[in-house]
Amino acid sequence: MKFFLLTAIIITCIISASSCYYDKEDLLYGGSNTGPCTDSVGTVSYVQKVVPMLQQYCYSCHTGSFPSGNAVMGNYAADKAMAQNGKLYGTINHMTGFSAMPKGMPKMSNCQIATIKKWIDTGMLNN
Ligand code: HEC
Repeated sequence: MKFFLLTAIIITCIISASSCYYDKEDLLYGGSNTGPCTDSVGTVSYVQKVVPMLQQYCYSCHTGSFPSGNAVMGNYAADKAMAQNGKLYGTINHMTGFSAMPKGMPKMSNCQIATIKKWIDTGMLNN
């Protein structure tokens, strides 16, 4: 009987330890759809959180003299304008009436989209 109890405890430990592993993975990479979304908690920094994502997923096509679709990004004023007219959230969230972005790439993770939405909903601060 004691043996079964011990086995049950060990299995429980293994299961909870492996769920911790996924949480840590999400904290490190932020791009998966599992685990808690810590990036969208609290104040979202434009410089530290939003820009690195836009840099990775958008700026390659939407900066310079001839930005794709005439949609300019790459500095605070331009990114804020795209957020204000609804196109930033509409395109990354693949909403009807908007072109799905980033073009030709997988949709951003739920956490990344939620983090950008939080920045928009809290006033698009230049922080
Ligand atoms: C590989 C190039 C590429 C990347 C990366 C890319 N785009 Fe685009 N984007 C385009 C092209 C080409 C168009 C014009 C054709 C179209 O609308 O599909 C466009 C159009 C747009 C438009 C105007 C279309 C509309 O629905 O109003 C917006 C806004 C936009 N992109 C936002 C983004 C955002 C935000 C990202 C990053 C998450 C992004 N794009 C990443 C190529 C790209």
